[in-house]
Amino acid sequence: MNYSIKNICCIGAGYVGGPTMAMMAYKCPNLIFNVVDINKERVAAWNAKDLSKLPIFEPGLKEIIASSRNKNLFFSSEIKEAIKSADVVFISVNTPTKTKGVGAGKSSDLKWVEACAREVAKYSKGHTIVVEKSTLPVRTAEVIQKILNSPKTNFNGEKISFSVLSNPEFLAEGTAINDLENPDRVLIGGEDQKAMFKLAEIYKAWVPEDKILFTNIWSSELAKLTSNAFLAQRISSINSISAICEVTGADIREVSRAIGKDSRIGSKFLDSGPGFGGSCFKKDILNLVYLAEYFGLKEVAKFWEEVVNINTWNQSRIAKIVVKKLFGTISDKKIVILGFAFKANTNDTRESAAIKICRDLIEEGAELVIHDPKVSQIQIENDLKIKPLSNDYDKNSDSRDNNIGSWRFSNSLDIFENANAVLVLTEWQEYKDIPWDLIAKQMIKPAWLFDSRSIVDYKLVKKTDLNFWRLGDGSQEEQKEKY
Ligand SMILES: NC(=O)c1ccc[n+]([C@@H]2O[C@H](COP(=O)([O-])OP(=O)(O)OC[C@H]3O[C@@H](n4cnc5c(N)ncnc54)[C@H](O)[C@@H]3O)[C@@H](O)[C@H]2O)c1
Repeated sequence: MNYSIKNICCIGAGYVGGPTMAMMAYKCPNLIFNVVDINKERVAAWNAKDLSKLPIFEPGLKEIIASSRNKNLFFSSEIKEAIKSADVVFISVNTPTKTKGVGAGKSSDLKWVEACAREVAKYSKGHTIVVEKSTLPVRTAEVIQKILNSPKTNFNGEKISFSVLSNPEFLAEGTAINDLENPDRVLIGGEDQKAMFKLAEIYKAWVPEDKILFTNIWSSELAKLTSNAFLAQRISSINSISAICEVTGADIREVSRAIGKDSRIGSKFLDSGPGFGGSCFKKDILNLVYLAEYFGLKEVAKFWEEVVNINTWNQSRIAKIVVKKLFGTISDKKIVILGFAFKANTNDTRESAAIKICRDLIEEGAELVIHDPKVSQIQIENDLKIKPLSNDYDKNSDSRDNNIGSWRFSNSLDIFENANAVLVLTEWQEYKDIPWDLIAKQMIKPAWLFDSRSIVDYKLVKKTDLNFWRLGDGSQEEQKEKY
């Protein structure tokens, strides 16, 4: 089959589709990229004149959008038109865990992927390369291929054909632009070698050839799930050791440094924290668990499921420690929460540990003041499913149910007055520079500072009268916790 690539369509303008196509458009000015999405609000945000209003926050994203948007990069909801003109269609839609039916709670819901495949089958012309960019269960390409091949002709009665490839995305939110510009590898799985080389041509504009790997389609799909499972497993492993540190007198920072020097282990992903979040790790591991169960590999399924279980346990123990340190009750106590995004440098809150921790604290009666430099109040409300108090809230006219606490949002850091405790949940740079000696004077004594990210200036805090707890530090008597 002879075909050249000129027009590219990406279905799904989310955390993957948006930045990935922006990078491709930036690196390949001679190709046209149409990024389409059914969510019109999101499309409008991608087209916002004011680049601080883009729907996704990623360092470096604004700059590459500014250089390509409306030149060779277009965001719209014109899905049919974009498919009609495309030589390559990337499917980059969401694949969340199924909430009902067969495989509920574990397998991925493929309804959005299927809907895309049907649209592509209907509106494509000639020969089209269809690329799975979404993370998909192993053997999904087979499903896509079947849907694509069932009509044989498009809406116009013209003959059509397809090559389906898997090209999973390995970017990490928070460092997406750097990851896209300097990927460790680009993985292309498929059977049609010509199509695979065509796709590789796009990447070759900036990725060294030896970093482009070709595999069969199933290996490519499984490699993506496995990669996320290994990364999540490392976080669960270090967090479990963190809990051991707290009771034994060891310090997780020292343990991490020591084991990270072993070249077989390496130093990355050894920072303990409140638990992994983001839309992918949990979902992708559960997918692997489902796959193993489906093929009767019970022990394998159990092994990977524990990685998720220990993460949930880790999230719940942080709220418990806060309550315990504050004399067993946090009812009506003001607790400042620093950070709601699941990690720094992103506005994404999907599966953020902050959701569970904040909900647990509110349930215990706390009055939370939540700050995050990039997450909006409405996003936090959607995640907590609890309405916030307004900022001019008058405590005396309180008509709340007295059994549970409350929360309010602040976009400034002028929030420590009369706080009983501060809990750091996201490692934003601006939290590293907080002058704790001055803040300590504003808080109600005895006051606590809980650092779940090890970013607080420990030496500075030690000079104040703040009680200090940080994750994985059993080196001081006041830190020790028994379970
Ligand atoms: N977020 C990450 O860090 C990351 C990294 C690597 C891979 N992935 C994978 O990439 C995929 C997308 O993830 P995301 O974070 O970008 O999701 P997202 O929810 O941010 O974006 C998906 C977009 O697809 C759109 N969409 C859904 N159905 C559609 C349809 N039929 N037509 C047009 N648009 C449609 C939605 O409106 C949404 O804007 C998932 O499979 C995910 O597992 C995500």
